[in-house]
Amino acid sequence: MTDKKTHRSVSDYYLLGKTGLRVSPLCLGTMTFGTEWGFGSDAATARAVFVRYLEAGGNFVDTADGYTNGHSEELLGQFIAETGSRDRVVLATKFTFNSDPANPNGGGNGRKNIYRALEGSLRRLKTDTIDLYWLHVWDGVTPLAEVVATLSDLVKAGKIRHYGLSDTPAWYLTRAETVAELRGLEPVAALQLEYSLIERNIEREHVPAALAMNIGICPWSPLGSGLLSGKYRRSGTSGEGEGRLQTMKSSTNAVFQKFTPRNWQVVEVLQEVAAKVERPAAQVALNWITKRPAVTSSIIGATSVRQLDENLGALDFEIPAELSAKLDAVSRPELVFPYTFFHPSRLALVTGGMQIAAEPPWFRER
Ligand SMILES: NC(=O)c1ccc[n+]([C@@H]2O[C@H](COP(=O)([O-])OP(=O)(O)OC[C@H]3O[C@@H](n4cnc5c(N)ncnc54)[C@H](OP(=O)(O)O)[C@@H]3O)[C@@H](O)[C@H]2O)c1
Repeated sequence: MTDKKTHRSVSDYYLLGKTGLRVSPLCLGTMTFGTEWGFGSDAATARAVFVRYLEAGGNFVDTADGYTNGHSEELLGQFIAETGSRDRVVLATKFTFNSDPANPNGGGNGRKNIYRALEGSLRRLKTDTIDLYWLHVWDGVTPLAEVVATLSDLVKAGKIRHYGLSDTPAWYLTRAETVAELRGLEPVAALQLEYSLIERNIEREHVPAALAMNIGICPWSPLGSGLLSGKYRRSGTSGEGEGRLQTMKSSTNAVFQKFTPRNWQVVEVLQEVAAKVERPAAQVALNWITKRPAVTSSIIGATSVRQLDENLGALDFEIPAELSAKLDAVSRPELVFPYTFFHPSRLALVTGGMQIAAEPPWFRER
């Protein structure tokens, strides 16, 4: 097991939160396995990416029942079977997406849907257990006690090994962990959230919560869907280039709307830093995210082996402190209420000026 500051490759493994699960610092995301969503890759390319990731020493793969309408899970299940890698791979998938718009229990986080979704995932993935089962998105309605009890039951039954929460409010995470702890149920292993140099809003609540409860964060879209590779050009108030953000430009889904004035400022500084350290922008952006507090494993995507190779090379260098400070400064989230009250300059009102030992790291930068 290695320290985050000194890791050098995808085969330096870390414990995920307070579990005994050892995972690579870069997890392979497979949302791009299959072309059904308009921006993925065909089966042969997806297979080559998967095999290359394993050869490099990676052991952590992420999918979801809904990705490319189930094709991602099918391809992954096939590749794992063909390479005989099921024992080595830490296999993660997700439930929540609706499979049948006419069925109100065909999606969401209720017990009925979790059991339905899990059976489908096990079948497509050709396995009898999931190593890490994610709640994909908070559904806003299912009683939390039902979610935690169901996932704990599945751990006891051996159908899943651990569970995590993706795209939930921080209060929901802390309540889930507290309910689990007080009722002697399975703890939350990990959090999966959008986190990158262009999306740092989770630093307000989720990161301090994860640190306080020793829960590992797995950032998704660490390259901002490709923007932080530096391959897109600014064009008026928008942008252009080749890749997902171009293909999905007309989509109303906010995750594809990355060509904003603020994001272009971040890209500009990123490219300056990349030139100074003589590394591709993608490696600098990934290096930055892997060193953030509470981050255990960042979920990367690649539509070619070339992209994957570039991204796997993101770990074996240090960004000098003065350049890292520039990246922090340009990408820092706005300081808003009530966090203004917790700023060290205001905390003197509480402490009389005495140093507080346990300041959250988020505030230390300000
Ligand atoms: N929980 C959730 O709600 C959620 C949401 C989204 C994703 N995820 C997970 O996170 C994973 C990663 O998300 P993501 O794919 O958005 O991650 P990302 O790393 O931000 O973007 C990956 C995309 O950027 C482009 N790219 C990657 N490396 C590149 C390089 N070196 N040079 C140029 N372009 C490069 C490729 O797209 P193009 O070739 O098309 O440009 C690639 O598919 C997903 O597979 C999924 O497992 C989870």
